[in-house]
Amino acid sequence: MSGELSGQVAIVTGGASGIGAASAALLAGQGARVIVADLQDAKDGTGRFVSHDVASEESWKSLLADVLGREGRLDIVVNNAGISGGFANAETTTVESWQHVQAINSEGVFLGCKYAIQGMKKSGPDKPASKGSIVNISSIAGLIGSAGPTAYTASKGAVRLLSKSVALYCAEQRYNIRCNSVHPGGVDTPIFNPLWQAMGHEQGKAFVGSRHPIGRMAEPVDLGEVVLWLASDRSSFVTGAEIVADGGLTSGLMKR
Ligand SMILES: NC(=O)c1ccc[n+]([C@@H]2O[C@H](COP(=O)([O-])OP(=O)(O)OC[C@H]3O[C@@H](n4cnc5c(N)ncnc54)[C@H](O)[C@@H]3O)[C@@H](O)[C@H]2O)c1
Repeated sequence: MSGELSGQVAIVTGGASGIGAASAALLAGQGARVIVADLQDAKDGTGRFVSHDVASEESWKSLLADVLGREGRLDIVVNNAGISGGFANAETTTVESWQHVQAINSEGVFLGCKYAIQGMKKSGPDKPASKGSIVNISSIAGLIGSAGPTAYTASKGAVRLLSKSVALYCAEQRYNIRCNSVHPGGVDTPIFNPLWQAMGHEQGKAFVGSRHPIGRMAEPVDLGEVVLWLASDRSSFVTGAEIVADGGLTSGLMKR
């Protein structure tokens, strides 16, 4: 397919659902060859599915070998896979659940950046130089605190500064690899299933939406568009940045 990402190769972790699936579809729509790397199969999803656990370094090694072996290049990595890990606070969070959330949401993104750099540095006949874009999905929970969920909040804060560290390192090395973080507010995806089960989907969505100054929750495509922009050369001078897409939630207080 032709488009501004024509010929480029993208990995989207957690690309079988929600924000990842929308991002994968938009990247593919611009011509990228997309690898959906997820624990769960993308039933009718975009691109080529590869079973992958972001928390496992072995899994990253074999994913990178697969992508470089079959596609010959790597241009874009969207480190999107994540879990909420429940709503436990500083007193009720167990060490096991803390470590599980950090392993996926924080360490998984670190590994994603590490192997992204390895892959993007490689050149080939149709990719003459080191180049790439890493997009890490954090959250508004990586910008402002909350009383809980404690483990999730800490993991998303880690992604924010990890992204800046990766961006500065790649700039220092003159790799031409950019790295940025995205901070969504509430997005209507299966991550909210526990709330939808408790309140009903429409009622729950209206409730969460009313907390956002813009008056609604985001749809996955709202975030996919941000990912597409960061992935493409349209954002060529943007690195180490935190892109907030939260319907105004972290902008300040409202009158009402
Ligand atoms: N939905 C929101 O309101 C919201 C807000 C802020 C940030 N986020 C973040 O956006 C990202 C995507 O979330 P979503 O809302 O689309 O959720 P989702 O549950 O729809 O999708 C998450 C995907 O990640 C996959 N996944 C989970 N653990 C994995 C692992 N170890 N290895 C590989 N894949 C794994 C799941 O199988 C699933 O397909 C997450 O990092 C989440 O924290 C979401």
